[in-house]
Amino acid sequence: MDGNGRWAKKRFMPRIFGHKHGVDALVHTINACANRGVEHLTVFAFSSENWKRPEEEVSGLMGLVLSAMTRYLTKIAGDGVRVRIIGDRGAVSQTVRNAWERAEATTAHNTRITVWVAFNYGGRWDIVQACQRAIADGVPATELSEDTLSRYMAQREAPDPDLFIRTGGEVRISNFLLWQVAYSELHFTDCLWPDFDEVELDRAFKIYATRDRRFGGVKPEAAVLAGSSDAA
Ligand code: FPP
Repeated sequence: MDGNGRWAKKRFMPRIFGHKHGVDALVHTINACANRGVEHLTVFAFSSENWKRPEEEVSGLMGLVLSAMTRYLTKIAGDGVRVRIIGDRGAVSQTVRNAWERAEATTAHNTRITVWVAFNYGGRWDIVQACQRAIADGVPATELSEDTLSRYMAQREAPDPDLFIRTGGEVRISNFLLWQVAYSELHFTDCLWPDFDEVELDRAFKIYATRDRRFGGVKPEAAVLAGSSDAA
């Protein structure tokens, strides 16, 4: 959800104004995704590195979580959205933790779409915490396979993402779901997050539909050709 700060700056407003509009864009996007059959949506709301931002912006973002709950929790719960939080909850204030726990509990039985909010999250943190928990569980080094480690990742109940969308014009992953995006299709757009809407979403889906996903393999027809040339 990148570009909130620049969106606000263009309007001569403080960065938090952009984040507030970012929450509105998120609520619309959740429904747009659910209407298109998306079962899991993961959003990067606060990274492990975002603590480096000015204290005013960090506390503004924490306050925004609380106000978003007041404003939107009843609506999204009624819309059939299940909310799950991934990230290191330890460093987050008790008030914010309580808000996330309330969101998870209120929406736990919803099935229309699951929205994973990555908050105080980093892809590297996720891999390290997965290893730590596997070791603490007594998993021997010889059994630490990709499948085993996947079962310890923060988002273990979700499939790996098919599509990764980054708004705001930067062309990098910035420590998002490093483990999970190994075979995701990447889509980068200059659109600033508060402007993200159904048109942008459909554009991303249309481009995604043209991608040829091989997961390291070959297309079936290429395999047949290779097979027949081998035989020849
Ligand atoms: C990146 O844009 C955006 C963020 C670091 C925060 C995104 C958070 C929200 C939209 C609110 C989350 C709240 C809930 C309840 C999920 P940026 O600030 O880096 O923008 P810039 O690149 O233009 O500076």
